[in-house]
Amino acid sequence: MKVLMLNGSARPNGNTHRALVEVGEQLKKEGIDYEIVNLGVKPILDCVGCGQCSQKGCVFGDEDGVNEFIQKAREADGFVFGTPVYYAHPSGRIQSFLDRVFYSSGAVFAFKPGAAVAVARRGGTSASFDVLNKYFGISRMPIIGSTYWNLVHGAAPGEAEQDAEGLQTMRNLARNMAYFLKCQAAGREAGIPLPETERTSRTNFIR
Ligand SMILES: Cc1cc2nc3c(=O)[nH]c(=O)nc-3n(C[C@H](O)[C@H](O)[C@H](O)COP(=O)(O)O)c2cc1C
Repeated sequence: MKVLMLNGSARPNGNTHRALVEVGEQLKKEGIDYEIVNLGVKPILDCVGCGQCSQKGCVFGDEDGVNEFIQKAREADGFVFGTPVYYAHPSGRIQSFLDRVFYSSGAVFAFKPGAAVAVARRGGTSASFDVLNKYFGISRMPIIGSTYWNLVHGAAPGEAEQDAEGLQTMRNLARNMAYFLKCQAAGREAGIPLPETERTSRTNFIR
């Protein structure tokens, strides 16, 4: 089993990465592999709502890694999306990236567990955590929690190391994710089918 993680920071070795590694190393102890995809500094285009992605995948191609991430997601069993907090919201780059991932391929994530992690010097973590959780909630994904909301504090790279409670929250999150994945595998083994989903009825306007 494998958990795919996304680091929404431009810094591949910053505090968000540190938080994700804490989750990943605990997952490994539970017998589950992990991979962290770092968004880095490359430009990431916003979704333009062209609607062509349902047939062809995101039309912007592969330069910023969206379609490659979707391929990895097909193989993954669970997800952790980590973001630094910028002005009390997730990084612009992770939002642009995930809008395109989910708008084009939300079904890839259905029934696979997800967890959001927000990392900040001081404020805006809860709001950022909420934003990332919304990708899971609309995609039929069980959301994995911990012993606190999944938050880690630190400003300069390396400072997350001092947030003992934050790192503990990451380890407990990993334990909960591992438990869920093992239960899900046991359910599959026992022949429990995935739930049916009704065809979406769009009632956002009156015909
Ligand atoms: C543009 C920008 C905006 C930021 N806004 C906030 C903020 O609203 N609240 C906060 O506590 N920290 C804020 N920070 C600090 C980062 O969240 C913090 O340094 C975090 O550890 C960065 O994670 P990273 O090392 O993974 O990049 C901001 C940093 C930047 C660059």
